[in-house]
Amino acid sequence: MIEKIQNFKGERMIQKAERLDTSWAYNTKDLPKDRELRLLDNAQFIYELALAQLELQSLGARFELTNGLREFKLLEIEDEKALRRRLAYFKFVKGKYTDYFQIIRKNRTRSVNQYLTHWIYPYKGKFHPQMIRGLLNIIGLEEGDTVLDPFIGSGTTAVEAQLLGINCIGIDVSPLCVLQSKVKTESIDVLPQIMKLKEEITNRLRPSLSNLKGETLDDMINLIPEKKTENFYKMAKLVAISDNARRRREFSNAFLKNLELMIFSVSDYVQIVEKLKLRLGIMDIKTGDSRALPLDDESVDGIITSPPYSIALDYVSNDAHALKELGYGISEIREEFIGVRGKGQARVDLYNKDMRISLQEMFRVLKPQKYAVIVIGNATYLGQEVKTVEFTIDHAEKTGFKLIKNIDKIIFGLYNVMRKENILIFMK
Ligand SMILES: C[S@@+](CC[C@H](N)C(=O)[O-])C[C@H]1O[C@@H](n2cnc3c(N)ncnc32)[C@H](O)[C@@H]1O
Repeated sequence: MIEKIQNFKGERMIQKAERLDTSWAYNTKDLPKDRELRLLDNAQFIYELALAQLELQSLGARFELTNGLREFKLLEIEDEKALRRRLAYFKFVKGKYTDYFQIIRKNRTRSVNQYLTHWIYPYKGKFHPQMIRGLLNIIGLEEGDTVLDPFIGSGTTAVEAQLLGINCIGIDVSPLCVLQSKVKTESIDVLPQIMKLKEEITNRLRPSLSNLKGETLDDMINLIPEKKTENFYKMAKLVAISDNARRRREFSNAFLKNLELMIFSVSDYVQIVEKLKLRLGIMDIKTGDSRALPLDDESVDGIITSPPYSIALDYVSNDAHALKELGYGISEIREEFIGVRGKGQARVDLYNKDMRISLQEMFRVLKPQKYAVIVIGNATYLGQEVKTVEFTIDHAEKTGFKLIKNIDKIIFGLYNVMRKENILIFMK
């Protein structure tokens, strides 16, 4: 068992997180006996209701809304078990909890959607994981199929595909993103090694714990012989650096606290896989360029992705400290990044040109009759709205895609640069 670290702020946080089990989002008091189908408490927005209905249809259920848009009556159902195993927006099906409700209760953070390993590393512009699970259902992907995310970012698509038994190819130009995505999906394979090493590392560092420096830790991390374990500890160090920078938390405390939480999260993942008897998808996550995908023509069954939000977020500057820490040159990386090169109108033009090539690549590797979902919003740059959504639709259609659905999705947090996003579902 994982021993608890006493007298650390982190310890209090873990306890707080454990109490989240009784919070509104995970409430188990409402006895589901006679409830056929009910939305999860955290589904709050109109677009979520739209996605909930689409995933039901896609999984072969006929239904009608009954009580205040939150409860549904099932009229016809193809496979009750499949509904319970796959649905993203529902708490229970015919009186029994869905797998997803049980999954989201494995959460060590205060944010409802940062369950299991999703929270690891504070990456800006993450997908909402529940939406990805819903979209995987909506585009009809099944166990053993392959989904591609050519801008994998923090790995949200990868974790959600893995949980549903769907294989995932994740590509990103940023080595930091590749590392995050791998750690979130691969650490479950090496949990015993990770735990064993935690004892060794904390014991060896303990005498100098109060003045633990990155370099001392690096020496130990560099000696780890197994790649997935090494990646996990590299990530733990980066999480601590970011915690230290953002919250002014002393580095050694930040490292131990986050290491503890990361190990809890990986254990949670292992436990839920066993409890729900999940067959996990196979992950293939690598650095690469979405403008030249290292994939054969017509080789993937679906695409779910969000490209860089035009020029709204400068990912290179945002992650500069972590990229440097991993030993990468910022200026070389910038050369391959979409949306961060050039100034003024030149930046917008370059972005459009790069995205056009990326869309052509997505079209090339997708099998015919299959779907590509692109989540994108218009950004404000130098006081002007950049019509990225219109551009994406226009160019995707010129490439050969057919727009099947366009769902408005209001987003919070980026109000200064963006108010809403669109979920665009295309068919090849
Ligand atoms: C909006 S983020 C994706 C976020 C992701 N959906 C998530 O849940 O974390 C866009 C990503 O595109 C990546 N990117 C930028 N240029 C790229 C390129 N040429 N090829 C592949 N990825 C690129 C960035 O590193 C960034 O991680």
